[in-house]
Amino acid sequence: MKITVIQGPNLNMLGTREQNIYGGMKLEQIHQQMQEVASQNGFEIDFFQSNLEGELVDKIQECLGDSQGIIINPAAYTHTSIAIRDAISAVNLPTIEVHISNIYRREEFRHKSLIAPVVAGQIAGFGPFTYHLALVAMMQILNEIKNLKQVKQ
Ligand code: DQA
Repeated sequence: MKITVIQGPNLNMLGTREQNIYGGMKLEQIHQQMQEVASQNGFEIDFFQSNLEGELVDKIQECLGDSQGIIINPAAYTHTSIAIRDAISAVNLPTIEVHISNIYRREEFRHKSLIAPVVAGQIAGFGPFTYHLALVAMMQILNEIKNLKQVKQ
């Protein structure tokens, strides 16, 4: 089973960008840790980062038929992108929204997520470790779906 991790704008700058908010880990280090945990649990994992809204929409669409679950940090597009929200709705795959920072403790414009109503759940505020929590949750969701399918057969 394959999980796709999609990272939005400016997340390629993790490790140097506003370390007081986002911590000191680079995106590659976060992905490396996720890769290890996914492999240990028998999951395939794929990573994608883009600063462009349309590329993020394309990647979400590509998940259909290719991936069983999506972990996404839409970054600033969380608060503005109807296109990303619609793409998530369209593919209808189990999706978890991640934020490194607790967006509800920050500026008011970050309190609203256009993405939250169309995902299985949102995890925010635990620094780079938030990605690990999201991965554990996604593996649990996918294992439950797999078990349900086996029971039905
Ligand atoms: C973020 C929170 C967003 O408000 C912000 O625009 C980001 C990162 C987070 O991971 O905490 O770029 O999604």
